[in-house]
Amino acid sequence: MKILAIETSCDETAIAVLEISEKQNSLKFNLLSNQVLSQIKIHKKFGGVVPNLAMREHRKNLPILLKEALREGELISNFQFPISKPKVDAIAVTYGPGLEPALWEGINFAKDLAKKWPVSPRRSRGGQVPLVGVNHLEGHIYASWLENAPPKFPLLALIASGGHTELVLMKKHLNYKILGETRDDAAGEAFDKVARMLGLGYPGGPEISKLAERWKTPGNGLFPRPMINSGDFDFSFSGLKTAVLYYLRDNPRANKAAIAYEFQQATIDVLVKKTADALRKYKVKSLVVGGGVTANKLLRSSLSNRVATSFPKISLHVSPLWLCGDNAAMIAVVGYFKARAKKFSKPEKIKAQGNLRLS
Ligand code: KG4
Ligand code: ZN
Repeated sequence: MKILAIETSCDETAIAVLEISEKQNSLKFNLLSNQVLSQIKIHKKFGGVVPNLAMREHRKNLPILLKEALREGELISNFQFPISKPKVDAIAVTYGPGLEPALWEGINFAKDLAKKWPVSPRRSRGGQVPLVGVNHLEGHIYASWLENAPPKFPLLALIASGGHTELVLMKKHLNYKILGETRDDAAGEAFDKVARMLGLGYPGGPEISKLAERWKTPGNGLFPRPMINSGDFDFSFSGLKTAVLYYLRDNPRANKAAIAYEFQQATIDVLVKKTADALRKYKVKSLVVGGGVTANKLLRSSLSNRVATSFPKISLHVSPLWLCGDNAAMIAVVGYFKARAKKFSKPEKIKAQGNLRLS
């Protein structure tokens, strides 16, 4: 099976082509093309993503990336737009959560392709290439399927990105129970806001972790660890962000590397502790970790140490670094599992849902 996937939920325009072969109960993923065009440079000067600019860029970039993806995936030799149908079995597209004007660009592009690429009458009774709507957060979870052995069910997933921080229980494919989530800011949002307070660039996560590495003194718990012992699986990062703000106000000469270090440590302590609490409560076989924040080196090593020491029987699947940020490869993996389960969507039913939740 070949899946074409499209992702435009935020400031990355992404298109991927994934080939999947099933042999004797084992799956082989062959990523034929993984096109990601980041708009960071455009949004950087505004200190965050501007939805209308993102929409305009997606519109401009999608046809360019499609051409490149189909060429690289050797799905079509002589590309012209609109084009004859390449050999794809389904088109997967992110329909939420995210910025609605940005999501609509990907959705409309996908619908347009489905209309232009009718399935040949020989292979079916006519109709369009089937569409699969994908939740962006499912994508962050399923990024872990692309490399190494697949995670086993039941599994716990920690998603930490710019818009979300969630612990999710999955008993089987495409089945999600949210155990807890942030009540205010997401972890990545806190990284971005604290970076701005420290005069660092956007996105803030990589900037903070780079600066924190320059601070060699062990931390002294300068900032609070919100809700760390709340007994549930919810998070809250807004108070931590405000604590940094007040500290900077009262200590304008404070060492910025020390603040970056302390803030990063506080955030990671909460993420690791809550994840460990959930692992203790739910008897899972695997822990899956994904989303932009999980590119953080310290978070990756802290989680892996914690699992090795306290949960040696649980297999840990952290998204490969190159799939932590937004991409369409992860959307293609979900697209495959949904297509296999015949979970297609009628084009008119796919609508952008900015606040879409896992269910
Ligand atoms: O998943 P993602 O690319 O987009 C969303 O779905 O939101 O996540 C982006 C977020 C940003 O807030 C960014 O600052 C954060 O991920 N991030 C990091 C790191 N790299 C990216 N946060 C902490 N440490 C990093 N190394
Ligand atoms: Zn994301």
